[in-house]
Amino acid sequence: MTVTEFLSEVDDLSKESKNSLSNINTLDDLSQFFQDFLGKKGKIGNALKNLKQFNPEEKREVGPAIQLLKTDINNKFISKRDSLELEELNKKLKSDWIDVTKKEKLDSGNLHPISKIQREIEDIFSSMGFEISDGPQVETEWNNFDALNIPESHPARDMQDTFWIKTGSDDSQKNTVLRTQTSDVQIRSMLKYGAPVRLIAPGRVFRNEELDTTHDATFYQVEGLLIDKNINISHLKGVLETMLAKLFKKDIKIRIRPGYFPFVEPGLEVDIWFEIPGKEGKWLEFMGAGMVHPNVLKNCNIDPEVYQGFAFGFGLTRLVMMKYEIEDIRLLALPKKEFLSQF
Ligand code: DAH
Repeated sequence: MTVTEFLSEVDDLSKESKNSLSNINTLDDLSQFFQDFLGKKGKIGNALKNLKQFNPEEKREVGPAIQLLKTDINNKFISKRDSLELEELNKKLKSDWIDVTKKEKLDSGNLHPISKIQREIEDIFSSMGFEISDGPQVETEWNNFDALNIPESHPARDMQDTFWIKTGSDDSQKNTVLRTQTSDVQIRSMLKYGAPVRLIAPGRVFRNEELDTTHDATFYQVEGLLIDKNINISHLKGVLETMLAKLFKKDIKIRIRPGYFPFVEPGLEVDIWFEIPGKEGKWLEFMGAGMVHPNVLKNCNIDPEVYQGFAFGFGLTRLVMMKYEIEDIRLLALPKKEFLSQF
């Protein structure tokens, strides 16, 4: 290669670099440009390697030419990089800019329908002088069954498929279950407060059941208990009618039938007359209830000769489904915003 050829190659490289730099608009392309020209195996590096073949005198001519070009490309590269980085920053600032004075409509959440109805029910019963109670979801076998007059051999245990947590002890105070009903709170409360007592216990319960549109392994119930002197079924009827009228904002007809629950005697089933505008009304099973069984009172150290009372239990989840005409119970357990935001 002659000096002239080398110098013309330097000239070409200079034009080529200017040309490609002028077409670059992104930092990615710019880094490719760096590799092509200034990188280890880049074009300037290759040209520098060719210097070896020149004698010292020739080198004095060609050396500065290629060094100058290298410095020139390097300077242009730096200023291009600075301007592209600034451009990118400005773009980001523009897109991330927030007008703090602008009033945005915030996408706010709402109470779950179960919480909503639960709060309404709590307000209604509070206004009638009932306390709101709860107990743990992992409950002793004794509180969940034995104390409620459901001993181990009792067929009523099969009425509720149970998730057992701890088994194997002869002492039912030591075995535990996921509570199958909120009736356990009756026992806890009577042991703690004695008589008279007046409370409701809304809460979560668990059953080891096949799942379908009306059965889930967990759901919510509300238990009610009133113990005092001279209490009878008409008090129960009055309390229920008051609650339903307040909840549905109109009088609701109820029908009381005999039913069997080990912890009450007599045991009752309460149906309500349910009407949806535009549809035919029908009787719906609403709750179990009855006069608290003397055995249950005795288990809680209350003298059945002195005190009597009623208890009731209904499905809060079921009530919510009825009220809002929800056909699949499983929807209530899903975090689906489109569904939950309707309530
Ligand atoms: N614990 C019952 C259940 O889960 C419901 C129930 C029935 C509660 C009668 C009561 C009652 O307090 O007296 O099916």
